[in-house]
Order: sequence, then C-alpha cells, then structure tokens
Amino acid sequence: MQARGPLMIEHRLIEKMLTVIRRTLERIEQTQSIDPYFVDMAVDFIRVYADRTHHGKEEDILFRDLRKKQLSGEDRQVMEELIEEHVFGRNTTKALIEANTRYRRGNEADLGEVKAHLRTLVDFYPEHIKKEDDVFFPASRTYFSNEEDQEMLAEFGEFDRKMIHEKYKAVVREFDTK
Ligand SMILES: [Fe+2]
Ligand SMILES: [Fe+2]
Repeated sequence: MQARGPLMIEHRLIEKMLTVIRRTLERIEQTQSIDPYFVDMAVDFIRVYADRTHHGKEEDILFRDLRKKQLSGEDRQVMEELIEEHVFGRNTTKALIEANTRYRRGNEADLGEVKAHLRTLVDFYPEHIKKEDDVFFPASRTYFSNEEDQEMLAEFGEFDRKMIHEKYKAVVREFDTK
C-alpha cells in the first residue's frame, strides 16, 4: 500500500460520519431539537479521529516531509490552503462545542447555532477531502521515492498506534482533576 492509502481509507469513514450528521440535521428540522449527546459523539469523532489522528498524520508527517522538498508554487499553495482548512474545521468545532454547552443548559435559542456549525462542517469537509484525494495526494506522491513513501507509511502506523493511549490518557486526566 502507498502512504496515502490509510489517509484515503480514513476519508471514507469521515464521509460516512458526515452522512450521519447530514441525516441528523434533517431530523432536527422535523423535531426542532437535538440530542446533545449526539453532538458530543460527533465532536469526539471530529476532534480525535478527523483532526488529531487524520490531520495529525497529514500535518506532522506528510506536510512536514513535503516542506523538505522543492514544491511547485501551485502545490505549495494547495498545501497552505489545506492547512488553513484544518484550522477552519478546528475553529468551527470549538464554536460547535460552545453552542452545544449553552443548548444543553437549556438555552433553546442556541439550537440554531448548533445546527449552523454542523451544517458548515458537512458542507465544507467533502470539498477538502476531494481536493486531497484528487489533486494534492497524487501531486505530492511525485516528490517522494518509493522508499520514502514506504517510510511515511510506517510512520503513519506508529502515529496511529499512539493515538488510543493519548485519547484515554486525556479522558482519565480530565476526570482526575474534577
Ligand atoms: Fe486534510
Ligand atoms: Fe485528509
């Protein structure tokens, strides 16, 4: 498998989650309410899986190694856009958490904001994935030898191996301080 293989497999799961969120948004229109625990679960998926685990491999390994190469102006520009989009996703998720906290406390008026942030995520993220799958990943592959690509793949595996420990250490840390 090429190094981009696991990243593209992760894209498929992220897309499935976006479909779940999209379906939930349709249901909100009928019920005018949302289960705050669903939002917690969606936020956990976005933060731990999509951002920390998936964007983590892109930014900390793939983009790091690409910075050592002589990228074309166009490829460099796309990489900067992808990084900005990761930041945008992070900021939207943060705003979603804040709106969900207010909604959970009984402020019904914040349902609109919860909906708007979920809508933003499901609208923008598929474009981000498409840009990586169709444009950036094939372009970035040309800068690496087969050996370098396989080294990245191995490093991705090591990165993933640490994630489950990081996640549950954070869970214990959070409750340990309460
Ligand atoms: Fe990305
Ligand atoms: Fe990605």
